[in-house]
Amino acid sequence: MAQVIVNGNFVDRSEAKVDIEDRGYQFGDGVYEVIRVYNGKMFTLAEHLKRFAKSLDSIGVSHAYTEQQLTVMLQELIERNSLKTGIIYMQMTRGVAPRNHAYPAGDVQPTFVAYTKGMERPVENLKNGVKAILTEDIRWLRCDIKSLNLLGNIMAKQKAVLSGCYEAIQYRGQAVTEGSSSNILIVNKDVVITHPSDQRILKGITKEVILQLCRTNQITVEERVFTLDELADADEVFLTSTTGEVMPIIEIDGRKVKDGVPGSVTRKLQELFSKEIEKQCGPLYNL
Ligand SMILES: Cc1ncc(COP(=O)(O)O)c(C=O)c1O
Repeated sequence: MAQVIVNGNFVDRSEAKVDIEDRGYQFGDGVYEVIRVYNGKMFTLAEHLKRFAKSLDSIGVSHAYTEQQLTVMLQELIERNSLKTGIIYMQMTRGVAPRNHAYPAGDVQPTFVAYTKGMERPVENLKNGVKAILTEDIRWLRCDIKSLNLLGNIMAKQKAVLSGCYEAIQYRGQAVTEGSSSNILIVNKDVVITHPSDQRILKGITKEVILQLCRTNQITVEERVFTLDELADADEVFLTSTTGEVMPIIEIDGRKVKDGVPGSVTRKLQELFSKEIEKQCGPLYNL
């Protein structure tokens, strides 16, 4: 039976319950993280814990656990579930209180939940690339917080799915922001361009790893707003995310990106990213 964490305790999945007045359940009043696990080891754990803490601070929820305590708990979660390749999902909400929009007064204990899920690397999509659609970004203006409120994101993703596509690329006015659950990067004349990490997008950890790899490998990076026209004219387009890694986008709204095959800079960054995973988590066998 799968083991999950509820408020610091390991319990069987079937025993894990949420109170109907948990503010996460009623308001989406909480934050979350998804951490990749390769060979039973967590990839970029420190970065995820740091972003988790920042999200909690942004909404004024106490941390409940130190980074050290979380690290120990999550490692034990991996071991109890014999997880090799997959993800950890964890979330913290403001806790249980009688329903009221205002934050509850006094000391309410945040609710913490974490569980694992086996998930192979998306090898075929990484090789062949995926299709995307464009959709207007209808979300709020604090997309830097990894909030449980994901209605705008899931509505965008559903549009993509209904069009037989992997991802929805969002835009505000002429500016391309990010995917429904990924960051979007374009390559133009060997320069990698992506939206700056402000309040309109999530500061993706995979994207940050990629930008760092670009800088150490003499690939020029521009973190600036880019337009729908630049996206349409790009030599290469790819997305980054914890589960999708560095995924080539080969078609947008039915139009091929250049020749409709993954580009050379994307390929190079995939290789560098795989090496980074191997550095932190050991050999990868399935790519
Ligand atoms: C809206 C959004 N942007 C970007 C990302 C990519 O972030 P990361 O690379 O940290 O997974 C995600 C991941 O789920 C996301 O939901």
